[in-house]
Order: sequence, then C-alpha cells, then structure tokens
Amino acid sequence: MQIIDGKQVAAQVLEEVAQDIAELKTKGILPGLAVVLVGNDPASQVYVGSKVKKCAELGMNSKKIVLPEETTQDELLEVIRQLNEDSSIHGILVQSPPPPHIDEAEVVLAINPAKDVDGFHPENVAKLVLEDETGFVPCTPLGCMRLLESAGVQTAGKRAVVIGRSMIVGKPMAHLLMSKKANATVTIAHSRTVNLPDLCKEADILVAAIGRPNFVTKDFVKEGAVVIDVGINRVDDATAPRGYKIVGDVAYDEVAPLCSAITPVPGGVGPMTIALLMANTVKACRQQNHC
Ligand code: GUN
Repeated sequence: MQIIDGKQVAAQVLEEVAQDIAELKTKGILPGLAVVLVGNDPASQVYVGSKVKKCAELGMNSKKIVLPEETTQDELLEVIRQLNEDSSIHGILVQSPPPPHIDEAEVVLAINPAKDVDGFHPENVAKLVLEDETGFVPCTPLGCMRLLESAGVQTAGKRAVVIGRSMIVGKPMAHLLMSKKANATVTIAHSRTVNLPDLCKEADILVAAIGRPNFVTKDFVKEGAVVIDVGINRVDDATAPRGYKIVGDVAYDEVAPLCSAITPVPGGVGPMTIALLMANTVKACRQQNHC
C-alpha cells in the first residue's frame, strides 16, 4: 500500500512554479493574485491566509482583501471590477462560501474569465468540458489528477467513481478523469445514489468529495483500489491543542489496508490545492502577457 505524499508532490509543483516566476521576472513580469474574503468564517480565514503566505514565499505579488460580513452585493461587485482593471493582478479568487446574502453565481460571472484562477466562471467550465486547455480548471481536482500521475496510477480504461457533484470538486474531477488525456470510465455518485457502497466497490479509482467525516468505510472499497480523499472536516477532539482535529471523508484506518494507494488527511490533497492555485496564477499571468 502506497501512501501518496501530497506535501512532497506539492513541493515539486511549487518548485516548477518558482522556476516559472524566476523566468517571468527576467522579462520584468511579476505574477499577482488577489484573494477576497467576505465575512469571518474561521476555516476560510485560514485558507485565505495560507494562499497569501504562499504568494509571499514565492516572491509573487498578492493582495488580500478582507471585507466585513455585511458587505453588499454591489460593494463586492465593485471590488471585482477594480481587480479586473488592475494590470498588476492576474488572478482573482473570492473565497467560497460567501455569506448567505451574497449571490455567488453573479460574483463569479463578474470576474474576468482570463483572471478566474479558480475556474468557476461559466466560460472556464465550458472550456473544461470542451477540453480547451486555455481555460482554468479548479485547483483541487487539478491537484488530485497530479497526485494520481505522480503515484504512477494508470487511469486509461479504469473505472472511476467520484462521490460528490460540486462545481468545485466533483464535476470538474469527473471531466478530468474522462478526458482524452486520462480516459477513465467515470460515474458520479451523490446523496441520492442508491446502494452507494456497492457502486463504489466497482471503482478502481475512488474519489471522495462529500464533506462528511469518515463516510467512506471499508464496505465501499475494492481490494487494490486507489482512493483519493478530498475531505477536510473539523471534528471535535478534546485532546487536540485547538479542541478539534482534521479528518477526511474516508475512514482511513480501516480503508488504507485495502488500497493499492491512498491519500492521507492531512497531507494529501490539501497541500495540492494551494500549489495548483499558484500554478494557475502563473498560467494566467503568462496568457495575459502573451508569453
Ligand atoms: N472554498 C473551498 N475551496 C475553495 C476553492 O478552491 N476556491 C475558493 N475560492 N473557495 C474555496
């Protein structure tokens, strides 16, 4: 059983990004990312902080814009409009989920698709479906694909089951797996799927993106399967320093012995998301500067 080391693979991706940034700097170009957070969701604050910190480590330009919970839709749209116009910013990300009074779909539509490094804009969703590589693909599924590749997992002809149909992970993951690059046969399962364990048991590659702690038990997993755990769930743990710990969507201890390869939580998919965000920002910068 191979434990897929997301920290190590993320470090490789970031090394490539660093080389790209160095090359762009010789041309007088500095990639820039703007991260917008509305409200004070604690998990979102951590994610936004890590994204900005990673930009700094790479010597990239970044702008962290934290807006109060009561920010109006129009105020947020105005911030996006300014970032669209700002030539020092190549990537724009609005941390999800925003407060409930914000219409997230309208916010995403307002982002210039060329700067939409999250890959949430309909133009980029269409490019993913069309397999047009000029588009931006959401960072988490992109990171999952890179983990499969780095672990030497052959996807062509294999049966893949993705649990979860979100626009951020499940749907784009399914498209990447079925693409003419990966050539897997893909099933998307979700909360209304009947007899989920038996369906998942047919998977050579099982991707869990449900957002429920320890949901995938050994009854879901075929012997020799590859399991990618996208879950990041906070569960109470009185013995942990912060009073909680992070667990995945997969019951790791009972599932891992069955697998040919598995990603741990933490240290699997998580570190990849930020690394691929940096890679998407450099891609956006190159496209905007035609280099
Ligand atoms: N919230 C959870 N994951 C993501 C992500 O990849 N991008 C944004 N913008 N928000 C998120």
